[in-house]
Amino acid sequence: MTSQVTLIDHPLLLHKLTLMRRQETSTAKFRALLKEVSLLMAYEVTRDLPLKYETIETPLATMNAPVLAPDKKLVIVSIMRAGQGILDGMLELMPSARVGHVGLYRDPHTLIPVEYYFKVPQDVEDRDMLVVDPMLATGNSAVAAVYRLKETNPRSIKFVCLLAAPEGIEHFQQEHPDVPIYTAAIDDKLDEHGYIIPGLGDAGDRLFGTK
Ligand code: URA
Repeated sequence: MTSQVTLIDHPLLLHKLTLMRRQETSTAKFRALLKEVSLLMAYEVTRDLPLKYETIETPLATMNAPVLAPDKKLVIVSIMRAGQGILDGMLELMPSARVGHVGLYRDPHTLIPVEYYFKVPQDVEDRDMLVVDPMLATGNSAVAAVYRLKETNPRSIKFVCLLAAPEGIEHFQQEHPDVPIYTAAIDDKLDEHGYIIPGLGDAGDRLFGTK
């Protein structure tokens, strides 16, 4: 079994992603775009949320109207630091979702992820988890984060990124065949430093203006 990969290739999303890739795009614009594309991705990632029906009164009639099933609660987990950009967008659409954070940095020499922070809500057993990180590059951080998050026993896990490298997808699928991946694009390859080519550079630096 390999996990499913869903390509969210809506034209609006792809246009905004191209703007984000451009090296001349400013930090402020990059941040705003990441928020916008996160809203669009959230729309697709939550497509299977179940509904229940409630009787309501409109100004003109009584109707049986769909609302989100109350037992389908979400927790969004940001892989820091670039995950913050997707988290902000998703929270705008789903303001009552709970939030978790996993802090990982890539050792620049070994590319192995080192955990420096881990905090998720206590009641994740009743929740579906969306793990967000803009870049699925080597997959090392995503794989490590999802192993840690599985220890908390969420009801389900989906991994959401903006860009993925084929190497990262393969690595992630080998380790977590039960976790579906959602991405807006699959790029060509990784370079020798583990950056996605053509990619958009370092998502954290571009989001926070640290370079
Ligand atoms: N992380 C990034 O921010 N960019 C890449 O290309 C790879 C990993």
